[in-house]
Parts: sequence; C-alpha cells; structure tokens
Amino acid sequence: MSYETILVETQGAVTLITLNRPQALNALSSQVLADLITAFAAFQADPAQRCAVLTGSGDKAFAAGADIKEMADKPAAEFYAEDFFEGWTSKLVKATRKPWIAAVNGFALGGGCELAMMADFIIASENAKFGQPEIKLGVAPGMGGSQRLARAVGKAKAMDMCLTGRMMDAAEAERGGLVSRVVPHADLLPEALKAAQTIAAMPPLAALMNKEMVNLAFETTLDQGLLAERRMFQVLTATQDKAEGMAAFVEKRAGVWQGR
Ligand code: CAA
Repeated sequence: MSYETILVETQGAVTLITLNRPQALNALSSQVLADLITAFAAFQADPAQRCAVLTGSGDKAFAAGADIKEMADKPAAEFYAEDFFEGWTSKLVKATRKPWIAAVNGFALGGGCELAMMADFIIASENAKFGQPEIKLGVAPGMGGSQRLARAVGKAKAMDMCLTGRMMDAAEAERGGLVSRVVPHADLLPEALKAAQTIAAMPPLAALMNKEMVNLAFETTLDQGLLAERRMFQVLTATQDKAEGMAAFVEKRAGVWQGR
C-alpha cells in the first residue's frame, strides 16, 4: 500500500506510522486523514500487528495543526455539510481498538495536539511543544482539543491554553498529565517503539480490554465504571491466556499467548 502523506512500516508486531509533510510541518489535510484512516484500518485488521506508534517526520513538528491553507477559503456551509473533522473520532479513534502511542517530536499544535491526544498515551521529546492556538485564527479547537485537553490536564490549564493560545513545553505537559514520559529527543522513537514492543508482547485480549477499561473511565460514573471493570476482569478469567499467564507465573517462566 502506498500513501501520499504518511509513511508506514512494520517492525515485528509494531506498526510505525509517520506523518510525512515536513515542508508544511505535517499539517493535517483531508488527504492526511484519508491516509491515516486507511493505515489504521490495516493495522486494526492485521492479526499480526499488536500496537502502533504515530510520529511526525523531520525534527520540527509532530503536526502543526489542521491544514490552514485548505480551510482558509472553505465556505461554512461546506464545513457543516461535510461535518468537517468528524471522521477523526469516528473513523480513527473509535475504529482502532488496538493500542497506539503518539511519539511527539516537536510542535503538536491545534489538530496536532488533538491528534496526539487521540492516542492511548503520549511520549514526548524534550523539544515537544503543545498548544491549542485556534483562537488566534478566529476559531476554536474542532478535533477534540477543548474536551480531551480538559480531561487530560484539568480546567485551569485547558482554559489557559485555549484562551491565550500559548504553548506548553514538554516538562509542563508531563507535570500536567498530558504526556506519560519525556525523553531526550534522540531517544524518542527508540523509547516509543520499545514501549510499543512491550505492549505488543502482552496477551492481546488483555491489551484490548485494558484500553477499553481506561477509556470507560472518561464516559461513565464511578459506580458504572467499577462494575464494567469487574465484568471485563471476570470475562478475561475465561481466556486461555489467563490460564497460561497464571501457570507461567507459578512455574517461573514466560507466558506464551494465544489471543483467546
Ligand atoms: N497548516 C498549513 N500549513 C502550515 C501549518 C498549518 N497548520 N503550520 C505550518 N504550516 C506551513 C507554513 O505555512 C509554512 O509553509 P510555507 O513555507 O509554504 O510558507 C511551513 O509550514 C513552515 O511553517 P513556518 O514558516 O510558519 O514555520 P515557523 O518555524 O516560523 O513557525 C509554527 C512554526 C509556530 C508552528 C507556525 O508554523 C504556526 O503557527 N503554524 C500554525 C499553528 C496553528 O495555528 N495550528 C492550528 C491550526 S487550526 C486547527 O488545527 C483546527 C483544529 O482544531 C483541528
């Protein structure tokens, strides 16, 4: 499969997807979305692939936002008729049940920050900069920035970022809980791929359910979430991988997973 705006390669059970429009700081055009939907669908459909990493090409940007040049002359009626930006959540986030990591290598602004927040977690280079500067363009986040950022870092920082349009550096993003780890720039991809390989080596059904459980925490009351968590735990106890995992622990050996 060849793509116009991204690069895709596999390393064992890990799919590495690289946004590849460095001359436009990897701005997220409609073609990028189309390419990402195809690549993530292929990742999701391939039983040999267990975890993905998404990063940006070049040293400067993960993605500097939705493509402003594409949006500049677009009539409002078209944005509405196409339900512009809707596909990011329905076709990318919701359709990808397997875990994936964003490796943020530079600017993650506007849609770039929003895309990173669609990942299950973010590993950032010490050069990373996050922001929701849409207000400076006379608009507001449209791919989840106001909602996912508020859930990730709380109201104070989310309001600050959206209303002032200022950038947050990697250290502040880690303190605020937006990113799970910050690493030296040169270590970013190796570290993200290592984390992905670790996840890829886990029992696959347990990986899917762990992801589902954590995501549920943002959608339910505590009581409903705790109930769903217990039920999912109980379902997992019926898998062959649970029998293998516990036997392997007792026998002091590595487990061998079947994915059932
Ligand atoms: N869309 C289209 N092109 C973009 C872009 C974007 N979001 N961001 C950068 N580019 C292009 C620039 O136009 C420039 O192209 P040319 O060489 O053809 O002029 C090239 O990438 C390099 O950018 P700069 O020369 O601006 O680089 P810089 O180092 O001086 O500045 C920057 C870097 C601070 C990130 C600056 O590019 C910038 O502010 N970019 C826009 C950030 C932004 O506003 N993002 C939000 C977009 S709206 C959105 O995302 C809506 C949403 O909620 C989904």
